[in-house]
Amino acid sequence: MSTNPNNDDPRTRTQPSVAGFASEQSASLSATVQRDSEGRLQHLITLEGLTREELTALLDLAQFYVRDPGDLPARDQTLAGHTVANLFFEPSTRTRVSFELAARRLGAEVVNLDMQSSSRVKGETVLDTIYTLQAMHADILIMRDAEPGLPAFIAQHVAPHVCILNAGEAHLSHPTQGLLDALTVRQVKGGFEGLRILIAGDIAHSRVARSAWHAFTTLGVEELRIAAPEDLMPGPDEFANATRFYDIDQAIEGVDVVMTLRIQRERFGSARFPDELTYHRKFGITAERLRKAKPDAIVMHPGPMNRDVEIASEVADGPQSVIQRQVTNGVAVRMAVLATIVRNVQARRQLR
Ligand code: NCD
Repeated sequence: MSTNPNNDDPRTRTQPSVAGFASEQSASLSATVQRDSEGRLQHLITLEGLTREELTALLDLAQFYVRDPGDLPARDQTLAGHTVANLFFEPSTRTRVSFELAARRLGAEVVNLDMQSSSRVKGETVLDTIYTLQAMHADILIMRDAEPGLPAFIAQHVAPHVCILNAGEAHLSHPTQGLLDALTVRQVKGGFEGLRILIAGDIAHSRVARSAWHAFTTLGVEELRIAAPEDLMPGPDEFANATRFYDIDQAIEGVDVVMTLRIQRERFGSARFPDELTYHRKFGITAERLRKAKPDAIVMHPGPMNRDVEIASEVADGPQSVIQRQVTNGVAVRMAVLATIVRNVQARRQLR
């Protein structure tokens, strides 16, 4: 049997394993792996390393795809002929559906794999699934997984025309969420300069917080605050330059943006956690607390929300909430990412 140089026959490969890779993997490896030899984005795994210009270009393209509620959604044929596969190994509503709608509205064919019932052995089996999809001409693979390092690992093993988009990686990275959060802030506040942004809640386990931090710091916000109870605060080596608060009433004082997060119990190891009522009393974003922020402050939440735990229902549905706008922007941002990645692949093809 000859060895296939494209590595698309699982029988002829010895399979590398993600185990070990993840421990060696650093976030900056993802930042390197996602670029081709010309420095263009082939994959989107992390917002780390994206320049302000790159982020702004993605936000501008996303804004081009935004439509007012009630209007028909934007559509074009940028992805015509491409096949997008959704591989979600963790639950998702918003992210999965918005990637699917984004891909369809750009003219792609979309397949959704039911991964939650799959009994994969980590690493090897995922790679087999990927090679199988690749052999069927699926060329854009959207992944969500609890394993840190998996998207970068997969990106290093796919064919040169295949793109990996990270739709949520463990507690580490959720780049399209970071972009949609930035787009929402830019729409309402007109830019990032001079802004005080507070991210509050379970920061330690949040990929949303990490990607938002990358986006907001690169885009030049004035101050990024993080507020969490001690057990849910990330280690001191993370969130460089963010101001840390253990008291939400102090943290919220005078901010322009309040982003609150779900408590991600599925990622808890040893972190102690108070009951929901106590948490709401000590840390929840209530109408009373929100009055301490700037009068025109906006309230964000990536969803899914636990009402009356991290956020009071009246705040979630109140006039300062932009939570539904975030959802609308999610589709536009994913269209922008898909279109950018596909154009980069086309540009590379033309060079050859
Ligand atoms: C988040 C996620 O999955 O990281 N949700 C999302 O993608 N909109 C946040 C969460 O699960 O709490």
